[in-house]
Amino acid sequence: METPREEAQKTSSSILKISFFATTNRRQHLEAKMKALILVGGFGTRLRPLTLSVPKPIVEFANKPSIIHQLEALKEVGVDEVVLAVNYQPELMSSCMNEWSKKLDMKITYSLETEPLGTAGPLALAAASLSTDRDGNPSSDPFFVLNSDVICPFPFQKFLEFHRNHGQEGTILVTEVAEPSKYGVVVADDNGKIQRFVEKPQVFVGNKINAGIYIFNPSILKRIKVEPTSIEKQIFPAMASEGQLFSMVLEGFWMDIGQPKDFILGTKLYLNHISEAKPELLQKGPGFIGPVLVDPSAKIGQNCTIGPHVTIGKGVVIGDGVRIKSSVLLDSSRVGDNSFVDAAIIGWQSHLGKWCRTQNTTVIGQNVKVKDEVLINGARILPHKDIDASIYEEGRIVM
Ligand SMILES: *[C@@H]1O[C@H](CO)[C@@H](O)[C@H](O)[C@H]1NC(C)=O
Ligand SMILES: *[C@@H]1O[C@H](CO)[C@@H](O)[C@H](O)[C@H]1NC(C)=O
Repeated sequence: METPREEAQKTSSSILKISFFATTNRRQHLEAKMKALILVGGFGTRLRPLTLSVPKPIVEFANKPSIIHQLEALKEVGVDEVVLAVNYQPELMSSCMNEWSKKLDMKITYSLETEPLGTAGPLALAAASLSTDRDGNPSSDPFFVLNSDVICPFPFQKFLEFHRNHGQEGTILVTEVAEPSKYGVVVADDNGKIQRFVEKPQVFVGNKINAGIYIFNPSILKRIKVEPTSIEKQIFPAMASEGQLFSMVLEGFWMDIGQPKDFILGTKLYLNHISEAKPELLQKGPGFIGPVLVDPSAKIGQNCTIGPHVTIGKGVVIGDGVRIKSSVLLDSSRVGDNSFVDAAIIGWQSHLGKWCRTQNTTVIGQNVKVKDEVLINGARILPHKDIDASIYEEGRIVM
């Protein structure tokens, strides 16, 4: 019997053959076909209770599985084959991903890490794929590596040009932060050549941190063995000492959306970005304030005030007189009349009654029913619960 992984690979390679013929003409002007590795890692415990229902990269960020934002940006620069490095059963993702693989016309395969090999492990495991072309011949084309939790404007064309121009083995995308003392800081010269890495600096050495997005030449793979290895602590410093590692500063927002508070903040930054870059995607009209994204299938009642920074997914139903701000309403959720939703994530198929109030980074899992007039202040509600009484205590987990 085939393992689900083999089956997934078989499916995507047959998609590949069909799509290859269909798209050769359209592609001719693009970059040579490239590959990417996306580091998905675990199931996403920090984003519970949402990740009790679906793997983290499938949770919709701005109405699309978060990983799709990355795949679309990669596709635009000519990446047509992506390896997802996971350490749980890939079949949990593959049915959703097979559909996107067809839509985006990209080949998607899985690399399953069965024992922890550190941050460089997934690279070692995927080495055979990343260092060869479609026909299995050795390739010297660079490839992308992305952490799946990162959301930013993904300036991949500029990133690729920067990498090709300096001609060395690797490039790290870096982002400026206000408080560098909490992070590992990347110190580079004016050309971006990395001089050193300083972990949680106590004196100011710079304000640029690793944004978790890289381009490498396949020669990096020779540095990595299939044994526990840290890419940040072992591989990068060695490359930097040989002058082989450069950094490019990201323009625009950056957020690691791996936990609810940052997911909500990331939604805000993303929607602000969209209001400049693609304002036509946003909802306009009376009752909408600031950037709000509404799926066309959602139904919104009368006299609502929605925004800023709200995303409303497929099949969502909102009653009359509802106030929503800084929140994420996932597919098929419902909000009853006169409720107030602030800084909350409402899970798939969950129902809030009338006159409810959810606030303070409340996360409601899938298929939860909240009775009329209930207040929820910063709680996490696990899937399939009925909530009959208010929860005032912040940070409570309802199981
Ligand atoms: C909406 O507001 C208008 C004006 O105040 C009011 O006449 C109407 O009844 C309201 N609709 C609902 C469903 O509350
Ligand atoms: C959020 O919870 C904290 C702690 O319980 C509380 O001090 C704060 O007022 C709450 N914020 C809102 C907007 O209710």
